[in-house]
Amino acid sequence: MTILDIIEKKKIKQELSAEEINYFVEGFTKGEIPDYQASALLMAILLNGMTDGETFALTDAMLRSGDVVDMSSLGGTVVDKHSTGGIGDSTTLALAPILACCGVFVAKMSGRGLGFTGGTIDKLESIPGFDTALSEDEFFGVVKKVGCAVIGQTANLAPADKKIYALRDVTGTVNAIPLICSSIMSKKLASGADTILLDVKYGSGAFMPTPESALELAEKMVAIGTLAGKRIGALITDMQQPLSDHVGNSLEIVGIIDVLNGKKNRLYYEIREVAVKLLALTGKYDEKSAEQAFQRAIDSGNALNKFAEMVTAQHGDESYIHNPDKFALGQRDAVLADKDGYVTGMAAADIGRAVTHLGGGRMTKSDVIDFSVGVVMQVAIGSKVNKGDVLCEVYHNGKGLDEAKTLISNSVFIGGDKPAEHKIAYAYVDKNGVTLY
Ligand code: URA
Repeated sequence: MTILDIIEKKKIKQELSAEEINYFVEGFTKGEIPDYQASALLMAILLNGMTDGETFALTDAMLRSGDVVDMSSLGGTVVDKHSTGGIGDSTTLALAPILACCGVFVAKMSGRGLGFTGGTIDKLESIPGFDTALSEDEFFGVVKKVGCAVIGQTANLAPADKKIYALRDVTGTVNAIPLICSSIMSKKLASGADTILLDVKYGSGAFMPTPESALELAEKMVAIGTLAGKRIGALITDMQQPLSDHVGNSLEIVGIIDVLNGKKNRLYYEIREVAVKLLALTGKYDEKSAEQAFQRAIDSGNALNKFAEMVTAQHGDESYIHNPDKFALGQRDAVLADKDGYVTGMAAADIGRAVTHLGGGRMTKSDVIDFSVGVVMQVAIGSKVNKGDVLCEVYHNGKGLDEAKTLISNSVFIGGDKPAEHKIAYAYVDKNGVTLY
């Protein structure tokens, strides 16, 4: 077997065997297959696709390239959720304590932000002292004691994905469903949870432009997870505007504290939808009792207290959770509406880019983040506005302010007609099939 034979085979749309896929993944991870041949194969996969069998073999080879975490010592149901990424998507931060209050373990490994999307780990590090790099023993200890913990991905989790993803990023091969599917699922399956909810986003702030393309990706990922023996489902959710009205690192923690205090906004309803589906997937709840458990966790204040408990267990200063005014924010400015009308749509990714310009995100991996900057949206799609109304508050420290304000001003579209209501979720898919909302 040679890598050239494998490239030739994919070039003429033939199905690769599991052995051939394994040969590629192992050889590339060890540095035996050069970038130029790996790039050619990735482009052939992007152009000619992969069968479910090939995608499963690719996922399996990538997950076996590193450690597979064993959570059985926790002695309970371990759940995980994964979002394909978006703007103001801070759901994990509230879900972890809420789900822990509902009697399941959340042992979550999350990523950092790059480009226009924020990262859960950066947001948590805006809480003074919060440690996202606990040792494996300490991580398991916190999960056992508190019920939830969130850390960064360990270096040896699916290392093949790290190498392949870096190459895809510079060869125009990110946007291929089998490659996205194997990249996400190799990490999810290696993380060791038994029940997984995928939140696949579509729209102007997401990878997938349309609900149909997001559903196609979701169906593939659910098929792979089911084949791997997991309880797994996927929600297809709207990312045509920031999910939280708070976008930025400290600001998103403030937005999450609002939700844990019971503030009912888009973020709250999305978190409820994800929590209910995930709890129902575990088999410990049906959807009705899951919703009741969710509500109890919020109304009793237990979820907020659980978040504070997790912060302390991960060496953070929990006084910030009880008193969010302690978060240092930049100076306040605003973007105003330049005409009367309704907000008809948003270029959500550009709102994420605006936060990056302010210093709240990374253009390159080595950039240092300013936790104190970001935006607080004052409107959503469908809001009625008059000329001069505040569309968005901008928190800044001088850097990138003009670029950010121009980007935001151009990314909130105002027109004469009230748009149709934007639903939070478009569909749900699990092993029983697709439910359209
Ligand atoms: N997120 C991932 O982890 N991998 C992809 O390929 C796309 C999104």
